Amino acid sequence: VNRVRIAVAGLGRMGTIHAASTCSVPGVELAVVVDADHHVARAAGERFGVAWSTDYAALVGDPGIDAMIVATPTALHGRMVAAAATAGKHVLCEKPIAGGLEEAVDVLDVVARAGVKLQVGFHRRFDPDWEAMAQRIAGGEIGEAILYRASLRDRCPPSPEYLRASAGIFRDMAIHELDAARWLIGEVEEAAAYGANSAELPNGELGTALVVLRFAGGALGALDASRVAGYGYEDSAEVVGTRGTMRLRGNRATQLARIDQAGSLKRWVPDWATEHREAYLREVEAFAVAIREGSEPRATGADAVAAAQLAEACVTAHRERRTVRVAHQAMTAGAMHHAQH
Ligand SMILES: NC(=O)c1ccc[n+]([C@@H]2O[C@H](COP(=O)([O-])OP(=O)(O)OC[C@H]3O[C@@H](n4cnc5c(N)ncnc54)[C@H](O)[C@@H]3O)[C@@H](O)[C@H]2O)c1
Repeated sequence: VNRVRIAVAGLGRMGTIHAASTCSVPGVELAVVVDADHHVARAAGERFGVAWSTDYAALVGDPGIDAMIVATPTALHGRMVAAAATAGKHVLCEKPIAGGLEEAVDVLDVVARAGVKLQVGFHRRFDPDWEAMAQRIAGGEIGEAILYRASLRDRCPPSPEYLRASAGIFRDMAIHELDAARWLIGEVEEAAAYGANSAELPNGELGTALVVLRFAGGALGALDASRVAGYGYEDSAEVVGTRGTMRLRGNRATQLARIDQAGSLKRWVPDWATEHREAYLREVEAFAVAIREGSEPRATGADAVAAAQLAEACVTAHRERRTVRVAHQAMTAGAMHHAQH
């Protein structure tokens, strides 16, 4: 079997991780790296020993490339995925797949017509602990789910440039927890959302957000997201069920403790790159498997649109200070435009 030849676009924090994963996963080959900044592109090309480019559009037309990994700023995702799909390339796109819901729906249509694979960067779905939690909940181990609670907290905020292009805390951060909500529990019926500004962030960006969900099956959800948590990176979740609770503490690097009379001190992982190293590797592995075997990716374009719809509901709920009803996400793309009221 030929190796899947991959181009990675956007060589910042996330794209560099994907490029490194592509180099170490069997069955795939990092063919070329591309970044709009030629210094960045060249440095990555030299680091990984591959060709580099500043011209995404030219690469999309290159018959020597089978698939693109898109890790550029969020505002560019929609058109980059559409261009790649139209040219017959499979795509692994970072979350969110577009800046807003309508564009996400349009992208999904383009991908469906092109018949290529689209996987979205919901990496929790490839993390062994999260996967085990999802499987065991689905297997009925804790009975009926009653409550989903999750926290996603960054130690310190990203750059002002990143923030400007991020589409805000609900579409950028909470979207991971919203995707996990659907994955672990099921579809969401209703969302309320709250946000607090932070003196550390420019332009009125929310530093912390709180989302309350009501699931179609009757369970409740409470999620927080923070860009300014200070103590470390946390990505924890629990699902309370009628017969037990599944709890994921969301911090791997806590085996080593310093102990003295004042107590015991364990360090939290500093960032998502450290916490999710294995999941990022496995998501590229799974992408290659989906391409080679022609199977459906485990985090699909439809999942991306459903999560985008929930993020949009949160944005509206926060802006209008009201609870927003969410029409069922498993609907045709065309109806999605009118799904929120
Ligand atoms: N799944 C996750 O855990 C996770 C974590 C971080 C970021 N992300 C996502 O990854 C994406 C990138 O985030 P980041 O933190 O790596 O950003 P970043 O700012 O560190 O990197 C973005 C890179 O894209 C390049 N770029 C800009 N325009 C380009 C173009 N037209 N063509 C090619 N390259 C271009 C920039 O020069 C920069 O090097 C975002 O959409 C973000 O939501 C996901």
